[in-house]
Amino acid sequence: MKPIRHLLAAIGLSFVLSPAHAGQVEVLHWWTSGGEAKAMGVLKEMMEEQGHTWKDFAVAGGGGEAAMTVLKTRAVSGNPPAAAQIKGHDIQEWAKLGFLTNLDDVAKEEKWDQVLPPIVSDIMKYEGHYVAVPVNVHRVNWLWVNPDVFKKVGVEVPHTWDEFFEVADKIKAAGIIPLAHGGQAWQDATVFEAVALAELGPKDYTAAFVNHDMDVLSGPKMVEALTKFHKIRDYIDPNAVGRDWNVATKMVINGDAAMQIMGDWAKGEFTAADKVAGKDYECVPAPGTEGSFTFNIDSLAMFKLNNEANEKAQMDLARTILRPKFQTIFNKAKGSIPVRTDVDMASFDDCAKASMKAFKATAENGGLVPSMAHGMATTSAVQGQIFDVITNFFNTKDADPEATAKQLASAVQSAL
Ligand code: GAL
Repeated sequence: MKPIRHLLAAIGLSFVLSPAHAGQVEVLHWWTSGGEAKAMGVLKEMMEEQGHTWKDFAVAGGGGEAAMTVLKTRAVSGNPPAAAQIKGHDIQEWAKLGFLTNLDDVAKEEKWDQVLPPIVSDIMKYEGHYVAVPVNVHRVNWLWVNPDVFKKVGVEVPHTWDEFFEVADKIKAAGIIPLAHGGQAWQDATVFEAVALAELGPKDYTAAFVNHDMDVLSGPKMVEALTKFHKIRDYIDPNAVGRDWNVATKMVINGDAAMQIMGDWAKGEFTAADKVAGKDYECVPAPGTEGSFTFNIDSLAMFKLNNEANEKAQMDLARTILRPKFQTIFNKAKGSIPVRTDVDMASFDDCAKASMKAFKATAENGGLVPSMAHGMATTSAVQGQIFDVITNFFNTKDADPEATAKQLASAVQSAL
């Protein structure tokens, strides 16, 4: 049967359903927390301003595991959304399967090659063609701090893991939860990669999680990282199991907990609660990672569609995302920094300014590393193996770090 649009067009009624350029964009994402939803609302509004219809396809679950499962079902049944939040290596995998559309025309018009750092544009291209649009750059290796709690207990913000444990003991003794945490595999992995980065340094971090060097994965530094990571269990509360990351952030906002290790989407929650960086909360690099930057680039990959108006809307979506206006408003709400390096940062908060500075500096000095926990370092198959080992280890009382390091290496090997 012919689509109804064609039948109407045949009798001259096409304008009824598709006025010259209005189309619909269906966008799959997992941005459902307060800050995330506000940020996504900016894109919806800008698309509606252009006359398009926004169809929200939100699948809750930080880190996006649930969203990816739903996306697979939709795509396999031949009905993908116009755009989906797909990141890093997964972009290549979807493109290889032939699902993604070519964005080169928009990219050329908008000069994406000139405004994006190559480390970003490379991830967005498959065989040299743009198939996804980057939205932002998140720094993952942050420690979020409630300064009132620190003042009350009389301790200083930690910059190394030794300092962290010292300070955490005192906070705990004062009856406050030292570290807000959500016991979900991706959150365990987010904390673990921060500890691993501190212990391994950027070079060995890359050797382990990007190049899968078996000696580094099972070596003494990894054993030490696992040992420290396991010790963190003593400083989280028993209700952490299954807790969402934004609920953990709320604990820091309220002063129920002193700190959280989380990417700067946590800042979106502080912002949504009208909290001011440097006054109501502080951001410092996760202990021992001062000179490094773990990056997590969000991006929307665009699927092949078969409706002209919707295709046009899809290209407008791609164009809008990289315009400086969207980059500014969206990233202020999301907690991230613009992915274009030419956006004026004057109106951003201190954490965002610090993040942009660190992003640029680490790109020069080798401290810029991709986040394993957020799909930037390796394939989802390897990532899944790492998540399993790490989360089991963290959730087992007397787990053995040495045996776990060996297990980590063989789990990675099994997915290569
Ligand atoms: C990450 C995503 C971030 C943030 C976080 C929690 O994977 O890149 O933008 O939304 O999940 O949902």
